[in-house]
Amino acid sequence: MAVLFQTAGSILAGGGTFHTVAEQIRKQLGPIQRALIITTQSLRRNGTAEQLQEQLRHSDIAADILGEDILPEPTAAAIEAIHAAIHGEAYEAYIGIGGGSVLDATKLLSVLATNGKPIEDMLGTDNIEHEGIPTVLIPTTSGTGAEVTPNAIVTLPERQLKIGVVSRRLYPRLAVLDPELTLTLPKAVTASTGMDAFTHALESFIGQKANPISDLFALESIRLISGSIVEACEDGSSIRARSAMLYGSAYGGAALAASGTAAVHAMAYPLGGRFGIPHGTANAMLLPHVMEMQLDAIAGRLAQAAAAMRQGMGHAASRDSHARAEAEWALGQIAEWTDQIGIPQNLAEYGVMEQDLPAMALGASEVKRLMDNNPKRFSLEELESIYRKLLPTTKVK
Ligand SMILES: NC(=O)c1ccc[n+]([C@@H]2O[C@H](COP(=O)([O-])OP(=O)(O)OC[C@H]3O[C@@H](n4cnc5c(N)ncnc54)[C@H](O)[C@@H]3O)[C@@H](O)[C@H]2O)c1
Ligand SMILES: [Fe+2]
Repeated sequence: MAVLFQTAGSILAGGGTFHTVAEQIRKQLGPIQRALIITTQSLRRNGTAEQLQEQLRHSDIAADILGEDILPEPTAAAIEAIHAAIHGEAYEAYIGIGGGSVLDATKLLSVLATNGKPIEDMLGTDNIEHEGIPTVLIPTTSGTGAEVTPNAIVTLPERQLKIGVVSRRLYPRLAVLDPELTLTLPKAVTASTGMDAFTHALESFIGQKANPISDLFALESIRLISGSIVEACEDGSSIRARSAMLYGSAYGGAALAASGTAAVHAMAYPLGGRFGIPHGTANAMLLPHVMEMQLDAIAGRLAQAAAAMRQGMGHAASRDSHARAEAEWALGQIAEWTDQIGIPQNLAEYGVMEQDLPAMALGASEVKRLMDNNPKRFSLEELESIYRKLLPTTKVK
């Protein structure tokens, strides 16, 4: 199988690197004069966006901060409205600082500026003709790994779905990984975004498109996240845990870029698009159940992932040579984490009812890009039964 691995043009990583971003932008993008900072309320409130603006000013780059906050899980319409408002301004770089919602919006604004067509016509894979405005992506969640993926995900409320735009034109010129920026993440966001990152790694590892390059990133991501997710949630000030989570998230993104996610992500889309469940929470709820449903097909791979999990957690390697037993241990451990870090296990809390399940199963089955990468083909009945496991009142074994 041929593998083409691409990533961000450059990656600047390490604690405190945020404070040298302007200098690095100068090096990577040359003598630019005007840039736009795209961000969200939390980073505006805690002064991070202004700090960046000030830093850029010192490097003779006049930067505006976008007047509008990027809301979580943005809709295509919201991003297009921002595009309409800023179109015509002579920005030479878009700098996105925030969670995956901000990074994805930044990527799309970049190509909207140069392609003269709506997001609707970019959906799917390789539907962007022209290079966008150069982007710099600075994640503040750990996370989507969006700073190193060719993907941007939008919510389409009218279709009650989330859909991906996938194109090499969406890679940034520069990604910046500074764990200090994630110290302010609240526990619930640390938990859900951390499980999203873990899901990227695990799905990339068990998927049909897994390959030696994605495996390298996936296993290291699994190791790092396994050894830090509980600590990052319980002690948000632990720079060790925050750092491991941010690298784990970026490696999960790299694994995803080289391989791809699968049924968990496909099934999460209707939960986000229709019920507004945060992306990482939806993935975390689904992950053990989707894996269990295909255990026969993936036991060997899951056992390998289990070894990386044990390593990260500081366990001695298992002497149990049965792949299936190790795979089951891994699923049990994932479920235990979600419990420990407070991720709900009940879709009813988000307003999902039994009668919604057929439409959700159909919606998930239509996310072909991801379902085709899944080891097992799920029938609509199987998809429904997975969702049903998360509705305790109708719980089936
Ligand atoms: N492009 C990709 O490859 C990819 C992969 C997975 C998910 N996604 C998409 O990314 C979006 C989710 O991104 P996310 O999970 O990073 O969450 P998010 O960007 O929606 O942020 C979640 C919340 O955390 C807040 N926040 C972010 N950083 C903070 C900080 N440092 N301190 C305090 N609060 C902070 C935000 O303001 C927001 O309220 C979804 O739309 C999802 O579909 C994209
Ligand atoms: Fe994801």
